[in-house]
Amino acid sequence: MQDFAGKVAAITGAGSGIGRALAYELARYGARLALSDIDEDAVRETAALALKQGASETVATRVDVSDRHAVQAWADETAGYFGTVNLVVNNAGVALTATVEEMEWDDFEWLMGINFWGVAYGTKAFLPHLRRSRDAHIVNISSVFGLMGIPTQSAYCAAKYAVRGFTESLRQEMRMSNSGIRVTTVHPGGIKTNIARSARAAQGLDAGELAVSFDRLARTSPDRAARIILRGVKHNRARVFVGPDATAIDIGQRALGVGLETLVRRFAGRSLPLGPARPAATTRPGTKSAG
Ligand SMILES: NC(=O)c1ccc[n+]([C@@H]2O[C@H](COP(=O)([O-])OP(=O)(O)OC[C@H]3O[C@@H](n4cnc5c(N)ncnc54)[C@H](O)[C@@H]3O)[C@@H](O)[C@H]2O)c1
Repeated sequence: MQDFAGKVAAITGAGSGIGRALAYELARYGARLALSDIDEDAVRETAALALKQGASETVATRVDVSDRHAVQAWADETAGYFGTVNLVVNNAGVALTATVEEMEWDDFEWLMGINFWGVAYGTKAFLPHLRRSRDAHIVNISSVFGLMGIPTQSAYCAAKYAVRGFTESLRQEMRMSNSGIRVTTVHPGGIKTNIARSARAAQGLDAGELAVSFDRLARTSPDRAARIILRGVKHNRARVFVGPDATAIDIGQRALGVGLETLVRRFAGRSLPLGPARPAATTRPGTKSAG
């Protein structure tokens, strides 16, 4: 996709962070935007600002990506309203910090519902519409945690590895069938967004402290992330690494393989909340203990 002007782009999780920044960046190119988020006020706000920034048209919809029927309905409504769909970004995501032992099934399923199933639902719901478009691209957001395992992030890593495998298989299928639909997997490093503030964490962990340490590590702005992702779409990159940390992890993973785990453990020993098992229970989002 060489140009986004007049193109129809559908983005999930567009109420904040990377999704919102993608909406603004596409707006500056004059794209037409179908924006969704579980937070209706936030996605309406994104849509209003995107219009001011140059979007030809915006439609904001409340969609919970973990609800397959809701995602299907949104995809069909989007294609019906705009007449075509060119770009789909399956972006909505959440975070959870808990060891495997402490993690509650509810929290594990909540995360997989959004971070993995949400991506699968979005991909399958939009595929038939993309097939009818002459210029079509799917972008699925994985993570650097889709490249290596991280203590206390087993659910998140499982979902992001799954997104990576699902998307890489899809890309091969699209190429083998000469569908013309292009497919990109995105592996962001630390991006300064609200993700840690809406995260769940095992009981006994200080959600505020986790958010503060996330902010310290997340160096790339969402605006820069959006520009890097869209450049990857323009150049039809199979994989896009966002931020110097993501590039370093990709290189480290390929050079060291499982040897990278030693470095991760050393780093995790200093910065991750690992210790004797706490009684299992979780802090729910909305606790708002982060600043
Ligand atoms: N921030 C990072 O450092 C980072 C790193 C790697 C990958 N990612 C991934 O980037 C994507 C965007 O995250 P972000 O950092 O911009 O976070 P964010 O919290 O700023 O934005 C995520 C958006 O998703 C929405 N959302 C949450 N649950 C939803 C649901 N069930 N249905 C629909 N929308 C829902 C939220 O309301 C929010 O607007 C996620 O997939 C995340 O895993 C982020």
